[in-house]
Amino acid sequence: MSSKLKTAIAFVKNIRTTGAISQTSKKTEQEITAQITEETKLVVEFGMGHGNITQVILSKLPQDAKLYAFEVNEDFCAVVREEISDQRLIVVNDSAENLKAHIGEQSVDAFVSSMPLTMFPSALVHTIMDIVVQSLPTHGTFSQILYNKKSHSKFADYFASLEVNGNMSLPPQYIYHCSQPKKQSK
Ligand SMILES: C[S@@+](CC[C@H](N)C(=O)[O-])C[C@H]1O[C@@H](n2cnc3c(N)ncnc32)[C@H](O)[C@@H]1O
Repeated sequence: MSSKLKTAIAFVKNIRTTGAISQTSKKTEQEITAQITEETKLVVEFGMGHGNITQVILSKLPQDAKLYAFEVNEDFCAVVREEISDQRLIVVNDSAENLKAHIGEQSVDAFVSSMPLTMFPSALVHTIMDIVVQSLPTHGTFSQILYNKKSHSKFADYFASLEVNGNMSLPPQYIYHCSQPKKQSK
């Protein structure tokens, strides 16, 4: 069985937490990692899945950087631990809102998220976005994949600047690049 098919079966079996029936497309992998440069030192990924975006992030990161990849599904973490061997990667089998328990007070240059944020209760979205903003320096960014292009209001309280880039994958995927974090949210 191909690894793509295995991933699709695992996503469907766990649809309530994955919110998708297949991995994000190659175009989306490239677009959501567009903020990562040779200057990036610390990245946090939310919703690692089977690690497709994780691999692209690692390919763009300098050798002395670190990537914390959060994933609630223990089996997905096991797959990635088996398949990706890279000393810069720290796989965290925990939910995004527990970020601080794992990274402490470190400052994060870029967040890359493919969690199904639109399926989360709004209180949880606010908790996560508050923690994200607290961890970002002024140059920091937060990039999120969504399946609709009208979710600006989700991020407007937290970021002064927002750019949305869509692509014609099936289904169409929209990448929200948020920057200029507002320290006093709400
Ligand atoms: C749509 S899949 C994306 C997987 C992969 N990154 C990709 O692009 O195809 C969403 C992932 O988010 C994970 N997830 C859901 N809720 C989460 C949470 N609260 N914290 C961290 N990961 C979460 C799911 O288990 C799933 O693996």
